Amino acid sequence: MAISYLNGTWQAIEDAKISVLDRGFMFGDGIYEVIPVYGGRLFTLDQHLTRLGNSLAEIKLANPLGRNEWVALISEAVERADETMALVYIQVTRGVAAKRDHVYQKGPATILVTVSAAPILDRKTIKPYALISLEDFRWARGHIKTVSLIAAGMLKNEAIAQGADDAVLIRDGLVTEATASNIFMVKEGVIVTPPKSRRLLHGITRDLVVELAETHGLALEQRDILSTELASADELLLTSSGHEVWPVCQLDGQLIGNGAPGVMWKTLDDLFQAYKRHVL
Ligand code: PDD
Repeated sequence: MAISYLNGTWQAIEDAKISVLDRGFMFGDGIYEVIPVYGGRLFTLDQHLTRLGNSLAEIKLANPLGRNEWVALISEAVERADETMALVYIQVTRGVAAKRDHVYQKGPATILVTVSAAPILDRKTIKPYALISLEDFRWARGHIKTVSLIAAGMLKNEAIAQGADDAVLIRDGLVTEATASNIFMVKEGVIVTPPKSRRLLHGITRDLVVELAETHGLALEQRDILSTELASADELLLTSSGHEVWPVCQLDGQLIGNGAPGVMWKTLDDLFQAYKRHVL
């Protein structure tokens, strides 16, 4: 049973309830974080807490907890859940308003922390994703990890309706990211990923892959990728906390490379797995 912490109370996730006047429910007025747990240990906790703070600052919501309080709370959640592989979801909303009003009310934020078991990903049996490209019609603050995920949900479901696994999103002719992961293109031995901007989430896994590639002398560029460049990529990769480094086999019905996970995926995934073993 997945555990949850809601405003001071620990309970099964199914029993946790919030008010309909919570601005997270009314307006999607809140932010979230997702932190992976391996072997019962939190991975890249510090980076996720920094991004949590950045998202809160962007929406002008005072961080309800100090750094040490967050660490204590999240660690307790992981301990209580007692799962080997899990994902910690943290949601902070602007809390309950006396009445429906766009103007921010004063009052405590709502804090929800859940820990849910995650499947152990077997690197040998990974099924590469088929992507389609879709117009990125999400809002213009993609770097804020907002709980308002309706656009991402619409795009993901459109991709599935068209027989794909996910969508690569295109804004003004440029590649931004996928619906819940960052994207990397490999072309003639060079790894390319779009630079950080307000158009995309500054993924923690993305940052780590960039760092690992650079430390190990792999050619990597952070530059804009034209949507027209994707079809001739040798490899496409997605990165996220839930999927780590994930290969792509198809784009818009055409094979990428030979349709199997490529050598650069293998190299980066090996580096990622080795890094995990080293720090955990
Ligand atoms: N998704 N881009 C988007 C739009 C995302 O939602 C995510 C994460 C990422 C990758 O970020 P990170 O490497 O920090 O997980 C990129 C999470 C896993 C989710 O919403 O469940």
